[in-house]
Amino acid sequence: PIILAQDKFTHRDELNYPYEERGLQFGDGVYEVIRIYNGDYYLLNEHVDRLFRSAEAIKINLSLTKDELKKLLLELLTKNKMTADGKVYLQVSRGSAPRDHVFPLNVPANMYAYLQDLPRNLENLENGVCTITQRDVRWENCYIKSLNLLPNVLAKQEAKEQGCYEAILYRDGLVTECSSSNAYLVKDGKIHTHPATNNILHGCVRMRVEKFANDLNIPFIEEGFSVEDIAMADEIFLSSSTSEVMPVIKVDNKEINDGKPGTITRKLQDAYIADAN
Ligand code: PDD
Repeated sequence: PIILAQDKFTHRDELNYPYEERGLQFGDGVYEVIRIYNGDYYLLNEHVDRLFRSAEAIKINLSLTKDELKKLLLELLTKNKMTADGKVYLQVSRGSAPRDHVFPLNVPANMYAYLQDLPRNLENLENGVCTITQRDVRWENCYIKSLNLLPNVLAKQEAKEQGCYEAILYRDGLVTECSSSNAYLVKDGKIHTHPATNNILHGCVRMRVEKFANDLNIPFIEEGFSVEDIAMADEIFLSSSTSEVMPVIKVDNKEINDGKPGTITRKLQDAYIADAN
């Protein structure tokens, strides 16, 4: 496989990093995961915009423009003759320098990107998934897609150990999002989700879900819902580049909608497929 390292293409085995690398030592960097369908990016502009927002928020200077980055990412597809469904992982860190919390001077950011095959998870999309709830113990800048994912990793692992797919996170009683996706509740024909504040990642698929809801005349209400509201929900679903629009059929062992994906979730799934093709 060919990977992108800085602005050059190289064979995967040729990328080696010094151990004094700020992404490795401090989680001092940002990343994106972009979905690929039939060898083409989905929501490329949205992801590149967010990468630049994240980098700016932590004062990393990218030495290329958005257009230059998009061109490189498209070349990555052709160089790998990518035609399947997959994803790209793209990471930018503050660079390689002797370990010191203070930013290094005149050190270029490190960037790399590589492709992975990722078939759509048809079984889960059809049947829905189980989730648990967990306290959101992350920091106050969750809109930054930071490399620091320890709370997310621990929450997802806890879900996995309980036989579940995701952990729904709550802060001060309100559901923020999930460990690696956004969360939604449907009640009386309306979609509720946490507003796009600093406490959640502003998901690229979330922006699409809002558009689909508007197109379908389904009210999209950006107001947090509580963990208690979940028990009374008509539907729960989540969204991300890898999960798409994913029905949730169980939360903390309690069934939602008798354990069946709901009709609004299904409509949004249909809109997603139409949009991604
Ligand atoms: N995660 N919230 C969090 C905390 C996330 O990590 C993600 C994405 C999302 C959804 O964002 P989007 O719709 O732009 O994919 C929400 C990616 C897939 C990951 O870390 O693997």
